[in-house]
Amino acid sequence: MVLTPSAHVHARKLVELLGSWNGAARPSSRSLSAAVRQLVLDGRLPPGTRLPAERELADALGVSRTLVARMLEGLRAEGFVASRRGAGSWVKLPDGERGNDAHGGWFPTEDTEMLNLAHATPNGPPELCAATDRARLRFPEQLSGHGYQPHGLRVLRERIAERYTKRGLPTGPEQILVTNGAQHGFALVLRMLVSPGERVLVEHPTYPNAIEAIRGLNTTPVAVPMVDGGWDLELLTANLRQTSPRLAYLIPDFHNPTGVRLDADGRARLGRALARTCTTAVIDETLVDIDLTDDEPPPPMAVFTDRAILVGSASKSFWGGLRLGWIRASEEFVQRAVVGRAALDLGSPILDQLVLAELLCVADQVLARRRAETIERRACLVAALREHLPHWSFRVPDGGLSLWCDIGAPVSSRLAVAAEQHGVRVAPGARFSVHGSLERWVRLPYTLPGDQLVEAIRRLAAAAAAVHEAPGPSLLTAPIA
Ligand SMILES: Cc1ncc(COP(=O)(O)O)c(C=O)c1O
Repeated sequence: MVLTPSAHVHARKLVELLGSWNGAARPSSRSLSAAVRQLVLDGRLPPGTRLPAERELADALGVSRTLVARMLEGLRAEGFVASRRGAGSWVKLPDGERGNDAHGGWFPTEDTEMLNLAHATPNGPPELCAATDRARLRFPEQLSGHGYQPHGLRVLRERIAERYTKRGLPTGPEQILVTNGAQHGFALVLRMLVSPGERVLVEHPTYPNAIEAIRGLNTTPVAVPMVDGGWDLELLTANLRQTSPRLAYLIPDFHNPTGVRLDADGRARLGRALARTCTTAVIDETLVDIDLTDDEPPPPMAVFTDRAILVGSASKSFWGGLRLGWIRASEEFVQRAVVGRAALDLGSPILDQLVLAELLCVADQVLARRRAETIERRACLVAALREHLPHWSFRVPDGGLSLWCDIGAPVSSRLAVAAEQHGVRVAPGARFSVHGSLERWVRLPYTLPGDQLVEAIRRLAAAAAAVHEAPGPSLLTAPIA
């Protein structure tokens, strides 16, 4: 894969990322190479990130320029850095180390013994059946029309709009476009706003199918790393300024896969950065309802900036099988999207929309039960991890449906392969990476019943032991000095 530099990292930021290396008593080019290599492998320096100039980095680190030049030479030889006259140096993964095609994608399995932790998808609620019965009674009145409703059914758009208004964002039904899921909504906005070769800024890690949508249009993702507690807004702002992406794709509400939520202050800062750089952002709110806290939720991003196009979904709040989502934007944008949609499809199924409209009338009840059940399952997963894999570390997420786990070594694709042999399927960190790094992480959903989660973690612990006992020759196991 040909990579060109996309994101930038300042010398000051790189020094911060290098953390303990920077305090080493006797710095060497080898140990510096190893530390930078580790940052690439675990995703904190996403491939494509342009490195500071040699002199600038040497000054920031307080080492000689020769040491930095040797470090770069070493990493170039290993395939972790590429350089071009005039364009500087940027980090990359060596050929053959691109791991995000590893297990975890959507493929069917006949194996009923397999415990599937690769997807964070809840079952449908029992209220769905009663909602379907009520929808069936309203269906005949639709039959006098032709059934093509590219905006979506009025009654559904009204109910979705009401929910935004309740969340503090006054919204009318003319600002809603019903789509066939959030992924469809994002793909539609992407097609409308971004041309091949332009850039789309994403968090790193991010939702894998968003990466696929970006790649599928031959647009270039600019990956901005998440840090321990969430977003590094300084870094994100710097990247908005320096890389001028045509669009940003962000998940501030229980980010998939890390589960973190951006607070109101952060949203205000992000809103200002988007306005200052004239960047439009798709804000993916797919997981917004899976709030496992008792806190007052922050307002939707569109309260802070009119540059936010919100994309919502029925999949996590209710059921993925409905295949319904929506876009919330200005009326003018929605009109353009209706025209743009014609190239992809001509509207969403009417009966399913009626079902969702009915379900929204009992949303509070459905979501209260989902929340209680999810809290219980999250507790089972956390307890099982602490018992069977005590050296793995994670932050208990405030919401969403999965936990982002640091497995202590850059081996998550190998772990996923071993796990399959032990009867459990997981999505390795590389699936959530733009270029296949993030090998030190694995995403673990808590959507299965508690007893199955406990068994899945027991199997995963056996797989982890097998990986530990048989280290492979991969560069991914390269030691860090
Ligand atoms: C962040 C995020 N966005 C979008 C989607 C896809 O949603 P939908 O099923 O509505 O297309 C998912 C599903 O996992 C998701 O986690």
